[in-house]
Amino acid sequence: MSTVALHDLERLAAAARAVRARAHVPYSRFAVGAALLDEQGRVHVGCNVENASYPQGLCAEAVALGALVSAGGARVLAVVVAGEAVQPVTPCGGCRQKLREFAATDAPVWSTDSSGWRARHTLGELLPASFGPDHLGAR
Ligand code: THU
Repeated sequence: MSTVALHDLERLAAAARAVRARAHVPYSRFAVGAALLDEQGRVHVGCNVENASYPQGLCAEAVALGALVSAGGARVLAVVVAGEAVQPVTPCGGCRQKLREFAATDAPVWSTDSSGWRARHTLGELLPASFGPDHLGAR
C-alpha cells in the first residue's frame, strides 16, 4: 500500500474543493473538482467542463490529467475528488481507466465534500483486473 502524507492529502483536498467552484456545469449543475499528486510532489487540478453537445463534456479527473501531463508530470500518486452527493463522489468508469494509465493499482482515490473526507478506495478496488500499459509492454 502506498502511503501519502497527510499534509499532501490536505493540499489535494483544498485544491479539489477550490477548483470545483470553477466547474462549467450549466446542464447537470453537478460540480466536481479533482486534484492529483504527481511524482514531483506537485498538485494538478481540474473541474468538469460541460458542453451544449452533451457527450463533448469533460470530467474533472480528465481535465486534471491533462494538466498533469501538460506540466510534465508522469505519475499519479494520489487522487482527491470533491463533489456533493448522498454517496461519496468517485471517478466514473472512463476516468478510472484514464487514471490507470498513470497510477498504480494501490494509488489512493479519496472522495471529499464540504463535510470532510467521505471515502477512500484504491484505484485497483475501483477498477479491478484492469487493462493497462503493461499489457502493451509500455511499462
Ligand atoms: N463528473 C465528473 O466530472 N467526475 C466524476 O467523478 C463524476 C461525474 C461530471 C460529469 C458531468 O459533468 C457531471 O459530473 C454529471 O455527471
